[in-house]
Amino acid sequence: MASGSFEGIEGDLNLSPHRAEWTRRNIGGETRRWLDEDARYFLHQVLSTPCLDVLAHADGIYLEDIEGRRFMDFHGNSVHQVGFGNPAVIAAVKAQLDALAFCTRRYTNIPAVELARTLARITPGELGKSLFCPSGAAAVGMALRLARAVTGRHKTLSMWDSFHGASLDAASVGGERMFRGDIGPLLPGTEHVPPPDASRCALGCGGRCDLRCAGYVEYVLEREGDVAAVIAEPVRSTPAIPHPDYWPRVRAACDRAGALLIFDEIPQCLGRTGKMFACEHWGVVPDILVLGKGFGGGILPMAAIVTRPELDVMADRALGHYTHEKNPVGCAAALATIQYIKREGLVERARALGAHALARMREMAGRHRLIGEARGLGLLLGLELVRDAETRERATEEADRVMYRALERGLSFKVSAGNVLTLTPPLTITEAELDRALAIVDECLTEIEASGGS
Ligand SMILES: Cc1ncc(COP(=O)(O)O)c(C=O)c1O
Repeated sequence: MASGSFEGIEGDLNLSPHRAEWTRRNIGGETRRWLDEDARYFLHQVLSTPCLDVLAHADGIYLEDIEGRRFMDFHGNSVHQVGFGNPAVIAAVKAQLDALAFCTRRYTNIPAVELARTLARITPGELGKSLFCPSGAAAVGMALRLARAVTGRHKTLSMWDSFHGASLDAASVGGERMFRGDIGPLLPGTEHVPPPDASRCALGCGGRCDLRCAGYVEYVLEREGDVAAVIAEPVRSTPAIPHPDYWPRVRAACDRAGALLIFDEIPQCLGRTGKMFACEHWGVVPDILVLGKGFGGGILPMAAIVTRPELDVMADRALGHYTHEKNPVGCAAALATIQYIKREGLVERARALGAHALARMREMAGRHRLIGEARGLGLLLGLELVRDAETRERATEEADRVMYRALERGLSFKVSAGNVLTLTPPLTITEAELDRALAIVDECLTEIEASGGS
């Protein structure tokens, strides 16, 4: 069995020969000039530079580049639950720009209050008090700060291979070497445990989860004795879907140990998984829920923490003094997004379309030797590619090839963990569009398998 630990590679490695081939075949002179200008004036960093293409437009499920090529976007950085350029969100943003475009500290505004009140209504359990900020990493930082203030402790428990943001505090609880390594000391007391991933269990359950991962969390919480918080995504984007008893057991262990449970739902909140919040699949309510990405309607940078009123304990200290803490335009976008999701029934839609897609992906898995497993929760879908069904050796090169062949055919998505085709379309997608995208993946797999790829 392949090792459970893997340094997360996002798949769009700059040196990929398949990427080079795609660029050679598709990038014309005008695009080349803008890519060169981008490379000249932006600081470079892994996974961002050099850029792939130059976008001119995005609407619904589509990206359009400056040469008029259109791609179905099944990645969207997880911001596009309501589709790109959603007219209801744009109208709300435009109206708010005319009414009140910024809110100076010590003042409040109606969209901000309405948004906090709406979150109190739609989040599970007693969650009812919010604070907003402009990025997911900043929201994770606020959650960690609040956990310290509430518990008087500083240690955290989080998952290897996880990502919670690129700032130093968020990277400290993250579990990916790319963000933790070669950058000097991180926060002290950030302990890590293996993620609940039965298909690649670091604790050796061999695919038949017997919850030894939950037992490990219980053990560490008890032995450490002074952990402030467990922070994790309820479901990662690979997607590895934890056992039904995993989160209830971790919740109970946190309660016994006096630790808070922080759920980072930055990419998966607002309907993606077929529930408004992913934690609802396990019936577990965290002490702090962290939201972001699509919370700003795919237009504005918006993130939030939502917690129980009893945890409102920092009135005389700074929790998250962000300049755009109550930005009325961002709040108007978030409110319009939530209203749109509810009005259009996008949560139910994600559930139904996700079940349809998963059935089709499982049927594909029966025909393609490269597919090791088809997984999904709502419209969070993944096809894990392996070279050998028995050893589960990761088919990383093949996954990269599928990604660029699919891009050639007008479908954009991301590869997670090196070998998982991660498919996260807007929740507004039609069944026909979803079928077309899966047909593209199917064709690419057929082509690669025929050419000798595993
Ligand atoms: C699970 C998770 N947490 C936090 C973040 C950080 O969010 P942001 O990029 O808005 O800082 C991300 C971003 O990819 C994420 O996927």
